[in-house]
Amino acid sequence: MANIQEIKSAFEKELSTCQTLAQLQDLKVKYMGKSGELTSLLKGIKDLPAEERPTFGAKVNELRNIFEEKLNYKSAAMKAAELQRRINEEKVDISLCEMQPWGALHPVTLAKNEICSLLISMGFEVLEGPEIETDYYNFQSLNIPYDHPARDMQDTFYLADGILLRTQTSAMQSRHMEVKKPPIKMVCPGKVYRSDSDASHSPVFHQIEGLVVDKNVTLCDLKGTLEYIASHLFGKDTKVRFRPSFFPFTEPSVEVDLTCCNCGGKGCSLCKGTGWIEVLGAGMVNPKVLENCGIDSSEYNGYAFGMGIDRIAMIKYGIPDIRLIFENDQRFLKQFGK
Ligand code: DAH
Repeated sequence: MANIQEIKSAFEKELSTCQTLAQLQDLKVKYMGKSGELTSLLKGIKDLPAEERPTFGAKVNELRNIFEEKLNYKSAAMKAAELQRRINEEKVDISLCEMQPWGALHPVTLAKNEICSLLISMGFEVLEGPEIETDYYNFQSLNIPYDHPARDMQDTFYLADGILLRTQTSAMQSRHMEVKKPPIKMVCPGKVYRSDSDASHSPVFHQIEGLVVDKNVTLCDLKGTLEYIASHLFGKDTKVRFRPSFFPFTEPSVEVDLTCCNCGGKGCSLCKGTGWIEVLGAGMVNPKVLENCGIDSSEYNGYAFGMGIDRIAMIKYGIPDIRLIFENDQRFLKQFGK
């Protein structure tokens, strides 16, 4: 029995110095293995008087259970500490990661989406046309023959005989009217090209063309549509003004001005003191254009408008130079992110 007590104290002393799982395993073998301390104790049982054997055997078994429990307890604690150490050491510090920068929609896309959504809500369908266009659709079908002076304002890039980079999304009017018969309500956003370049003109820019052809369409319908768009884009107090103008494909033709969204019409540097900002051209579709596309102009009429999306974006977001729109400078673009 005295031996049992000694073994117990020796085991506990050694256990307290164990620092690794391997040392625990060695300890286990030393005390509980085939030729371990407890096993030799049990082997010695035969030398005891018969009446002492059961108590001794029970004591040794009790000790075995205690040792096992202590070893398990310590090894579980060691495993938990080891796991914690690895978690601390191996954890990924996400704050050091190079985050993928968030993208943002380009201001021209923002303006285009907003204008198209407004028109879609009024029943317009959105179409896209080719940027490489024929002289016929870009000019002739729109009542601009070869020798027409209106071509001067829309000099462009010619690719081959009769093929050019379109100067106006109006080209899509004729393409659409040739295949779709009235009632027509369409818009065509897209890039257009002209040989122009300064702070307010770029050789490539964006337009949205609108076309309505039906019976009994009036200039008032055009004005109502534009007022709806203007009030949503620039605020409900925005007023729309028509000024007489000329486009070969509309008769009558108008330039459309909006009250300046910067000063509300009082006059400022944005509107050059006039209180008005010119944003688009429009008019009633010239009967010749309808006839060119096989639509009976004695039965149908319509209105059309064409606006520069870049210009709208510049006014809306206070962009002072059109070149910023095309330079792809991230310092500029990221201001439009949410
Ligand atoms: N296409 C014209 C331009 O680029 C703008 C325009 C004016 C479009 C009158 C139209 C319109 O549809 O009716 O200057």
